[in-house]
Amino acid sequence: MDRDALEETLDALMFKHKGLYFEAIHSSPKLVDAVEHMEIRDSDVFILTYPKSGTVWTQQIVSLIFNEGHRNGTEHVKNIVRAPWIEYDFNNADFKSRPSPRLFSSHLPYYLMPKDMRFRMGKIIYVYRNPKDVLVSFYHFYNLIPNLKSVMNWKIFMERFISGKVFGGSWFDHVRGWYTLKEDFNMLFVTYEEMKKDLRSAVLKICKFVGINLDEKAIDIVVEKATFKNMKHDPIANYRFLPSDLVDHSKGDFVRKGIVGDWKNMMTVAQSEMFDKVYKEKMGDLPINFVWDLNEEDAS
Ligand code: A3P
Repeated sequence: MDRDALEETLDALMFKHKGLYFEAIHSSPKLVDAVEHMEIRDSDVFILTYPKSGTVWTQQIVSLIFNEGHRNGTEHVKNIVRAPWIEYDFNNADFKSRPSPRLFSSHLPYYLMPKDMRFRMGKIIYVYRNPKDVLVSFYHFYNLIPNLKSVMNWKIFMERFISGKVFGGSWFDHVRGWYTLKEDFNMLFVTYEEMKKDLRSAVLKICKFVGINLDEKAIDIVVEKATFKNMKHDPIANYRFLPSDLVDHSKGDFVRKGIVGDWKNMMTVAQSEMFDKVYKEKMGDLPINFVWDLNEEDAS
């Protein structure tokens, strides 16, 4: 497949609305617009991420903290039910009838969020990850889309990522937007890399933010159930319930490699330098420091 045909195939998977690209099967401009008017309760907790930054991992952690600690037989509840998406409709969730505290997930930028949240209503856990690993993870994710693997092209995908022509739009705009507006929202910032480095501390940080006190044993259970090793084989974390015309499960897992620094296995030195230049131009003025490598051999 030549470049034009591939770009056309990738474009057909999305629609553009209010400056952003959305996956076309589960969302629509109407659905995105409705989010703005969503009624917010102060106890609502939103897991907010740019795609491939650790969303499912955080869904796992937060739902363990809230519902279970030990799960009480809810281990088979899908993550899209535990913490449904607000801009994607997977299962017709009725948000209003959900008991508090409600958990939600979103990849939206700040300007498309429910407007009440601008008055610091609800709580947002914003998880972000170094963009080179996000790019690599995203590339592998696109390869799970049926019929795309044979035609996917790393170089073209990288260009599209940098210009924001992927689900969720531009990583740079997403992180910059949320970071710059952080005082307007009630937010906790957590990096994927800090979760990798010290999961227990990250869990404690999240517990403190959402105001839940778990004893040592319950924390141990949350940490244990959220390790890469345990999640790698969890059918729910891997979205195995999605039909095969949406995700080709034979091509790989959502919970894929789970390391910091995988970009080194994909990017050439020239590509990495080019990316650094773009990063500096777009993000250089922000006081954000990413960890680009933890010198890991294996995910634990
Ligand atoms: P990789 O593709 O680099 O392995 P999201 O849920 O936002 O789509 O993010 C997916 C990324 O989070 C994948 O990264 C996936 O492997 C990683 N991930 C999921 N669960 C994890 C865990 N328990 N520990 C570390 N990484 C995890």
